[in-house]
Amino acid sequence: METNKKVIFSGIQPSGALHLGNYLGALRNWVALQDEYNCVYCVVDEHAITVRQDPAALRRQTLELFAQLVACGIDPEKSILFIQSHVPAHAELAWVLNCYTMFGELSRMTQFKDKSAKHADNVNAGLFTYPSLMAADIMLYQADLVPVGEDQKQHVELTRNIVQRFNGIYGDVFTMPDAYIPKVGARVMSLNQPDSKMSKSIPEGCVYLMDSPDEIMRKFKRAITDSDTERCVRYDRANKPGVATLIDIYAAVTGKSYEQIEEEFAGKGYGAFKPAVGEAVVELLRPLREEATRLLADKAYLEGLYRAGAEKAASIAQRTLRKVHKKVGFLPR
Ligand code: TYM
Repeated sequence: METNKKVIFSGIQPSGALHLGNYLGALRNWVALQDEYNCVYCVVDEHAITVRQDPAALRRQTLELFAQLVACGIDPEKSILFIQSHVPAHAELAWVLNCYTMFGELSRMTQFKDKSAKHADNVNAGLFTYPSLMAADIMLYQADLVPVGEDQKQHVELTRNIVQRFNGIYGDVFTMPDAYIPKVGARVMSLNQPDSKMSKSIPEGCVYLMDSPDEIMRKFKRAITDSDTERCVRYDRANKPGVATLIDIYAAVTGKSYEQIEEEFAGKGYGAFKPAVGEAVVELLRPLREEATRLLADKAYLEGLYRAGAEKAASIAQRTLRKVHKKVGFLPR
């Protein structure tokens, strides 16, 4: 890695397929930041098993996600791209950080509360300590910036608390990271439940990178709007959440402002607006889907990429881990 550049770290779970929320909220920034920063990007399979996964499906999804990240523009020559479980330092640092993370802090995490309600039959310790593993991911690479969607902000703040606590005891061991959240697209909402974020848990309202153009158009045509008799395309999140969700997506995809969008669709109604958003998304995703399909046909190439990525990641991670082990008082091997 070039020494004069700041460091970026981010991760994504292979628990489902890549969706438009992931892309607009995080991935697009991952790609954009590659020239200016030393970037480290990770498919976090260890995080994924905090919810029960089918082993064969997890393997398949991990490889698919890896290929999709490359297809979206993560360049393995410029950035380090790897799979979390291939670098044991993540789990090792997570253990140490567990001892510097408070029970009360973890109890306050919104994602833990949501996921334990959703998976009441499997509220395991990993789900609870998930944020310490995420902190380990970030801290191992001494990341300055963490590009994420809005929903991960709380976890990055907890990471900052852990950094401060650890450095307060042992001196300047870790870099203080900042969350990097996009101005548009930070919280893409579900197409059919516009008060929930887009996620795989609401499949009908979720647009996947690998969806066919027909499928994407179908989802947008069925998107929830409202019973406004004028069917007016106007941004009003409180009273017209469905339309606001579509305007947000259209703004994030086209770069247009709310005012420009309202003007473009003035007097045209939802019948024209919904397919226009669908078309814009189809055109955004088409080249990415085609490239991912092409990459997935060459498993050996992908394997070469993730092996090389893990090697580069491990050498950086190991350096931090050694320092931490020394600081906390472990006898060197
Ligand atoms: P994950 O896998 O749920 O999501 C990956 C990224 O996509 C963003 N995102 C969204 N952005 C906008 N609108 C949405 N509807 C939407 N849904 C998801 C997420 O904010 C995220 O940036 N814990 C993390 C993965 C992780 C990580 C890390 C991230 C593990 N270690 C270290 C950063 C740094 C997660 O579950 O993201």
